[in-house]
Amino acid sequence: MFVSRISRIGVGMFKQLGRGLCTSLCRTGFLQTPYIQYWQPQFKTQLESKMFLGALFQKHHLFSTPASGSDIVDGSEGKETISVTFVDKDGEEKNLNVPIGMSMLEAAHENDIELEGACEASLACSTCHVIVMDVEYYNKLEDPTDEENDMLDLAFGLTQTSRLGCQVIAKPELDGIRLAIPAATRNFAVDGYVPKPH
Ligand code: FES
Repeated sequence: MFVSRISRIGVGMFKQLGRGLCTSLCRTGFLQTPYIQYWQPQFKTQLESKMFLGALFQKHHLFSTPASGSDIVDGSEGKETISVTFVDKDGEEKNLNVPIGMSMLEAAHENDIELEGACEASLACSTCHVIVMDVEYYNKLEDPTDEENDMLDLAFGLTQTSRLGCQVIAKPELDGIRLAIPAATRNFAVDGYVPKPH
């Protein structure tokens, strides 16, 4: 009697395991059994099992769909990124995949692009001046603050679509943005220049 009880428990556990695996595979689209049929009191256990296996599948990309070009590049695996192209003074282009939330100045520095950033993003210079090459993208940026405008007024080669690279933060709408780096910068912070307050 004791033995038969043990074997019943064993069979029950085996069925549980089978259902957990099935629901995980359903998530990947390999099995189409309606998930709702497993919504039993043991749902919580199955959900945990599903989440665990799902995480494993995702981590190892065993069943996930291929990532788009803007998802994973240059060691940014796991982070959402956008495509940004820097164009230097000689017209040379460099395309980067920049994680959402990162400034263009940081992205440039991480990828050996010559964009100065003398004040380290404290809005006390204009050496991170970039020109947004497409007005459509320029219009997607947050409006510059008064402090940024003050610094931009001092920038070399100011244009209608100029911004400070340290103030342009990667966000999904900016995917595909192109930024030109001016031929020269003025480093007033280092030269000791203090802009007049307005
Ligand atoms: Fe100085 Fe951007 S690095 S304002």
